[in-house]
Amino acid sequence: MAHVVAGVGCSHVPAIGVAMDTHITDQPYWQPVFKGFEKSREWIKQVDPDVIFLVYNDHCTAFDSSMIPTFALGVAAEFAPADEGWGPRPVPVAKNHQKLASHIAQSLVLDEFDMTIMNEMEVDHGLTVPLSLMYGEVDEWPAKVIPLAVNVVQYPPPTGNRCFNLGKAVGRAIESFDEDLKVVVFGTGGMSHQLQYKRAGLINPEWDKRFLDLLTQDPVAASKIPHVEYLREAGSEGVEMVMWHVMRGALDEKVREVHRHYHVPASNTAVGHIILENVAD
Ligand SMILES: [Fe+2]
Repeated sequence: MAHVVAGVGCSHVPAIGVAMDTHITDQPYWQPVFKGFEKSREWIKQVDPDVIFLVYNDHCTAFDSSMIPTFALGVAAEFAPADEGWGPRPVPVAKNHQKLASHIAQSLVLDEFDMTIMNEMEVDHGLTVPLSLMYGEVDEWPAKVIPLAVNVVQYPPPTGNRCFNLGKAVGRAIESFDEDLKVVVFGTGGMSHQLQYKRAGLINPEWDKRFLDLLTQDPVAASKIPHVEYLREAGSEGVEMVMWHVMRGALDEKVREVHRHYHVPASNTAVGHIILENVAD
């Protein structure tokens, strides 16, 4: 059977992708950001997942105001990096595990989570930056990638509780797939940041750290954080963190935190990263 072995929480700041693509990661500004991922790259090499179920949001790249799916599951054969204005990032095309993706689609709908099914989709920095952070520069992504795009751009985004319960359903779907696969679930976005108006530049390290603590130790309480708290404490774009609850919901209740990294700033965002492993039973 397929198994969810671990979860990865990770910011997906676009400037991180630019820093990697332009080979300036050892500059003093960027060095501490990437230092925190050295252990993560060792970890993922050891775990060597077959599939990454990657929860991210599209930033008006594949979708625009003409179509706003709350949850869009990628079942296409592959997902090319999108041109976000400066040409597509020079990173590999993400190849899907279509059988598992189709199984998850069927399982979720029958489990009463109605997905938008994406038979074609390009993917932006929301998906490619976390893969780059975890794998570095590679010719091919070492794992198959199943993308789940969550709307956190047009209000209202889904609640943390909805995302948490969806994560549980994703976990059930994966665990009922009849092929021996190791799956790691990524939840991406955040941490605290606001890109516009009077509070632009807002960063709240205390709140971010509390969020990471809660995510590990009391995921139900974390999933109950209301939108207004994200807005007030983590800024208007901090609400991206609802996507981390999908990852957490897919894991067991008790997990082992094997790595954490937090750094301010990258661009105008706090970078947060956590690795949680299911405790083997
Ligand atoms: Fe984002």
